[in-house]
Amino acid sequence: MTPAEMADTHKAAFTQSRPWSETEFSDLLSNRFTYVVGDKSCFALIQVIAGEAELLTIATQPDHQRQGLAAQVMSAWHTQAISQGAGRAFLDVAVDNTPAIALYHRCGYALHTRRPGYYKRSDTESIDAIVMQRPLP
Ligand SMILES: CC(C)(COP(=O)(O)OP(=O)(O)OC[C@H]1O[C@@H](n2cnc3c(N)ncnc32)[C@H](O)[C@@H]1OP(=O)(O)O)[C@@H](O)C(=O)NCCC(=O)NCCS
Repeated sequence: MTPAEMADTHKAAFTQSRPWSETEFSDLLSNRFTYVVGDKSCFALIQVIAGEAELLTIATQPDHQRQGLAAQVMSAWHTQAISQGAGRAFLDVAVDNTPAIALYHRCGYALHTRRPGYYKRSDTESIDAIVMQRPLP
């Protein structure tokens, strides 16, 4: 996948928050700890450092949602992270993102902590994040 394709899918999927640009994806992928799993329909961006994996983002094109793609991509990046020595996985998600939280619960994640006001929604509004984690494998 190219950074431009990632930015397209991200923009289509993220309706509540600012989409990431092609340049942002390019910059993230220039880091040797970061990798991408998936394709234009659904992809995830992952970072594995010192035995810990972090999901940076995951997005499914709206017309491909509820077809099991994100669950497959989650499983694929877990496998790759384990092969790179990760023993734990983390992610953060907005408290009102019900679809993503349901996905993560289904993929074995549990609540770790809460970050008040973590995501900016507008100049005047922000929303809490929850941090979720699971052991790998
Ligand atoms: C969250 C997201 C990636 C899920 O992608 P998806 O490909 O539709 O997910 P899947 O089809 O693999 O769903 C797997 C499970 O997740 C849960 N889930 C996914 N979408 C859901 C929804 N809209 N409502 C409730 N549960 C949902 C269900 O448990 C689902 O299993 P089921 O379909 O058997 O019930 C997608 O909704 C998306 O791109 N959202 C916008 C971007 C975003 O919020 N990313 C996460 C930021 S932290």
